[in-house]
Amino acid sequence: MSRIYEALQKAEMEREQSPLPAPEAMEQPMLPSAVVDFDDSAAAEPVEGRFTRLVPEEAFVESDDLPAEKAVPAFDTITPHPWNLSATKLPPLLDRGPAVEQFRSLRSRLYEVRATRPIKSVLISSGLPQEGKSFISTNLAISFARHRNSRVLLIDGDMRRYTVHEMLGTTPSPGLADYLAGKATVEEILQRGEMPAAGTGLPSGRIVLGNLAFIPGGNGGDKAADLSGSPRFPELLAAVGPMFDWIIVDSSPVIPVSDAVNLARSCDGVMLVARGGVTKYPTAQRAATEMRSVNLLGFVLNAVLKAPHVGHYYGYDSGTA
Ligand SMILES: Nc1ncnc2c1ncn2[C@@H]1O[C@H](COP(=O)(O)OP(=O)(O)OP(=O)(O)O)[C@@H](O)[C@H]1O
Ligand SMILES: [Mg+2]
Repeated sequence: MSRIYEALQKAEMEREQSPLPAPEAMEQPMLPSAVVDFDDSAAAEPVEGRFTRLVPEEAFVESDDLPAEKAVPAFDTITPHPWNLSATKLPPLLDRGPAVEQFRSLRSRLYEVRATRPIKSVLISSGLPQEGKSFISTNLAISFARHRNSRVLLIDGDMRRYTVHEMLGTTPSPGLADYLAGKATVEEILQRGEMPAAGTGLPSGRIVLGNLAFIPGGNGGDKAADLSGSPRFPELLAAVGPMFDWIIVDSSPVIPVSDAVNLARSCDGVMLVARGGVTKYPTAQRAATEMRSVNLLGFVLNAVLKAPHVGHYYGYDSGTA
């Protein structure tokens, strides 16, 4: 936790020197997000050895890619929906820029963690609302999906304040809540993206982000806490798991409600988001405590003014998306 403490202090000082407008008012919200404070206790090599080097993506070996013949048929049967991607909120759609690099860095870091232990499903949470969980989840999923042939499933696991569908420009239901309530099937909630024909809102037939599938939140409302504890969630992950290389689950904040912890129990790992200049250290600490019973991989420091250069903890890579 000391690294996240240092990073949050630094971000706060920088924010005081150069205050930013409220996130809602930002036209270009693409501030870099940096990877911090991963738990390296299970790492095969010392931290220094793993983080001081650059990792060109061409040289990166994905240890557990699924054989194509296993993944292709079922994935291709997922029904395309018109997606109207919000380009300003999705920097990994671009080819370069500081935020793109940071998402690549986060992605590489997760591949490195995966080399030491099996992880496929990663839940993203944070202590409080508005720290950037949905922003990080969606952009991380896109970054993975643009990398080689990684098949990625993005699940909006925030069944109260589901917003991922807004970034993708698609419908919020039927979604996870409907599936967990037994009101929809896996096939009904899974989406792939199709470019809408200009001006009509109708699909043009061109698949967008061809390796990405999405399950929206659905409307859990008051039932979200109960639904998040349903055994249908681990069943869902088991059923769709073989189709994907990564499953990224956005979730609700962990301090006010228990949904994220419930969902996290079925995931292989959890990443917590802390927002530079906003999240206080005790909040980050409390979030980590709430997640103590699950596999906490580490923190992502979101919305920092510039990518921090602190010690050896930041991995940068230089490849293409
Ligand atoms: N790195 C960033 N730079 C600028 N704006 C950001 C950044 N990350 C998130 N935002 C903006 O901050 C707002 C909150 O982000 P987001 O919805 O991802 O947070 P959240 O933690 O998922 O919130 P909630 O708890 O309500 O679900 C959004 O308007 C989002 O676009
Ligand atoms: Mg959210």
